[in-house]
Amino acid sequence: MKTTALRGRIVGFRDDPFLQPPSSCLQYEPDGLVLIRDGLIASVGPFAELAPTLPQGTPIHDYGDAIISAGFVDAHVHFPQFGVIAAPGEQLLEWLERYVFPAEARFADETHAERVAGLFLRELLRNGTTTACVYCSVHPQSVDAFFRESERFNTRMIAGKVLMDRNAPPALRDTARTGHDDSLALIRRWHGRGRQSYAVTPRFAASCTPEQLEAAGDLLQRADGLFVQTHLSENLAEIEWVKQLFPDSASYLDVYDRYGLVGERTVLGHGIHLAEQDFCCCHRKGAALAHCPTSNRFLGSGAFRLFDARDGRRPVHVALGTDVGAGTSLSQLATLGEAYKTAQAVGRGTLGAIQGFWLATLGGARALQLDDRIGRVAPGFEADLVVLDPGATDLLRFRTEQGGDIEDTLFALMTIGDDRAVRATWVAGECVYDRDRAEPFAPV
Ligand code: GUN
Ligand code: ZN
Repeated sequence: MKTTALRGRIVGFRDDPFLQPPSSCLQYEPDGLVLIRDGLIASVGPFAELAPTLPQGTPIHDYGDAIISAGFVDAHVHFPQFGVIAAPGEQLLEWLERYVFPAEARFADETHAERVAGLFLRELLRNGTTTACVYCSVHPQSVDAFFRESERFNTRMIAGKVLMDRNAPPALRDTARTGHDDSLALIRRWHGRGRQSYAVTPRFAASCTPEQLEAAGDLLQRADGLFVQTHLSENLAEIEWVKQLFPDSASYLDVYDRYGLVGERTVLGHGIHLAEQDFCCCHRKGAALAHCPTSNRFLGSGAFRLFDARDGRRPVHVALGTDVGAGTSLSQLATLGEAYKTAQAVGRGTLGAIQGFWLATLGGARALQLDDRIGRVAPGFEADLVVLDPGATDLLRFRTEQGGDIEDTLFALMTIGDDRAVRATWVAGECVYDRDRAEPFAPV
């Protein structure tokens, strides 16, 4: 039995700060200890109380005034777009044609896919992200490359092969049949193996024929606990196009709903231009929206209405997504900073630090129906943790030395923090990344 302990300032949540007063949702231990046994959190409490109870010889990683939090959840990201992050000047549909499709075509080459998967996973960990919903390319070998890398680090990841049988270059098209069969083979190979889960991944309504969406619905019957990830109502030209392609559907969301693709464990990227009945449908079905603020601003797609989505009368699950490569950072701290600014621009509420960190951890886990195992620093939960250094840069140190409570420190981190503030990342009880080690990454 392997035991380890982490000492630091522990931040976690007991409830949903969009539905309850935020301060009542925060759990804070200013000098705390997290005891980890066999990959799970065994106990959490004040250092002074827990330290004397530790078994003799238990190693203690003392992080001083750094903050220990549940690892971040990124609910929407494209690993094959890593190489076209920061491609300027276009809105969604032109950007896909000009930059994304050529980049994704290169993933037919498994060696290239492996190289990018290795880089990408390390970057996620360097940013403190321990769980992500990942779009691979249309090529099954890109999924194998990603899951193999995730398995090396033992990260809890969700990923899938993109389905697209129309409106894409021929080299990137599958068919309803091959897309189905390739996905099924991947599900059998990877879904539920260790910490890996599969997401059926129709790219978006415009790239899938009705036959392909039907085949996607069929795949969901083939195993328990499968996810669905796709894009929804991101861009006005896209929405108009989907209306033409599916004239009989009542809305963009209805296209997916008719094929049985909207339910628990469905993660809909963007959801910017939604009507009240769409929010009601997501609430009823338990589907989640992935808020991707850096991407939405980069492509000029629009402003996600976070506080309307989370309206207590029919709250919709919301998680944060970086959406790299349209997104401009894999950092959930940077993403929170943009989410704050988007909320200010929309004017329906101000995103406080407690709500922000909840979205990046327990809220994300809840949106993915994984909140019984990740997202909390609490006994029985998987020991996926991020350690955040409030003195990581001169500016952060100076800003957080001015006084202020833990909420103020968290707000500074989400506004001026980024990957540099991630001191260490723990996955299933192992330290897989340590910023200050000579060799920062250690696959388990
Ligand atoms: N819609 C369909 N495909 C994509 C994609 O790769 N990125 C984004 N942001 N939107 C999409
Ligand atoms: Zn996307």
